[in-house]
Amino acid sequence: MKIAVIGSNMVDLTSYITRMPTLGETLEAPDFSMGCGGKGANQAVAAAKYGADVLMVTKVGDDFFADNTIANFKKNGIDTTYVQKVPGVSSGVAPIFVDKSGQNSILIIKGANNELKPADIDAAAEDLKACKMIILQLEISLETVYYAIEFGNKYNIPVLLNPAPATNELDIDKVCQCDFFMPNETELAILTGMSVSDETEIEAAAKSLAVRGLKHVIVTMGARGSLLIDENGTQLVKPFKVNAVDSSGAGDAFIGCFACCYVENHDIVAAMKTASAFAALSVTKRGTQKSYPERADVLKLLNA
Ligand code: RIB
Repeated sequence: MKIAVIGSNMVDLTSYITRMPTLGETLEAPDFSMGCGGKGANQAVAAAKYGADVLMVTKVGDDFFADNTIANFKKNGIDTTYVQKVPGVSSGVAPIFVDKSGQNSILIIKGANNELKPADIDAAAEDLKACKMIILQLEISLETVYYAIEFGNKYNIPVLLNPAPATNELDIDKVCQCDFFMPNETELAILTGMSVSDETEIEAAAKSLAVRGLKHVIVTMGARGSLLIDENGTQLVKPFKVNAVDSSGAGDAFIGCFACCYVENHDIVAAMKTASAFAALSVTKRGTQKSYPERADVLKLLNA
């Protein structure tokens, strides 16, 4: 069953640091790595690695990163019919800083991702209509995100929105028709203006979104697991305990795997459990997409 990702791609430039330099300071970092990333592309690769048939709708620049990004989609079996190059624009790029505890901070330069427009959704419409889910993030223009949600609703295709990076400009009333709304705690705090220091506060903040019409709010909480808030109440899915070396891209790993499992069996909590195992394995290795596990390894962890 096909899943569409209408979203971003980036080139991740990851520095492994001991601490952030202060203003005016030059500081040596122990290590660096480059890889394919971007929240949309990561989610597409995660879904594909777990077994989904994925259609990617995105834009790359006309620089030397572009061909590598397209080749990477193809290597992962992703349909690139609607991956377009934009002349005179850079590809999206993300400098990432990972500290000694594996926590990350990310800057994004959207580049060509900004050029993904509603007209690109129209151009892909016939193929999108055959998809069983549309996945969106906020590394493309809000205009395109809103249009994609309307498109999904019009053709009865479930829509999953990962509101990342979070912005106060997001109009919750325009995204209420999403079937799944999946922020992490930081994004939840930005979107609601509420404190999220513990699970009680996270639940309250998520509920404040759910009452506005969002059907299923799923908060990814890293080492604390994930929380589902919907008409049936609240359900916590516990995390798998692993030795974390790099958490970058773990939220995307969760979302891509969740989407794949959900379209396979429509069991939300079971999909969250599997996604949790997939994301847990991803943080045990460096990089974003590079760290994503094989389905067999995820099943092994689930059955351990
Ligand atoms: O969520 C992780 C991703 O955020 C990275 O791959 C980076 O490219 C940014 O988009």
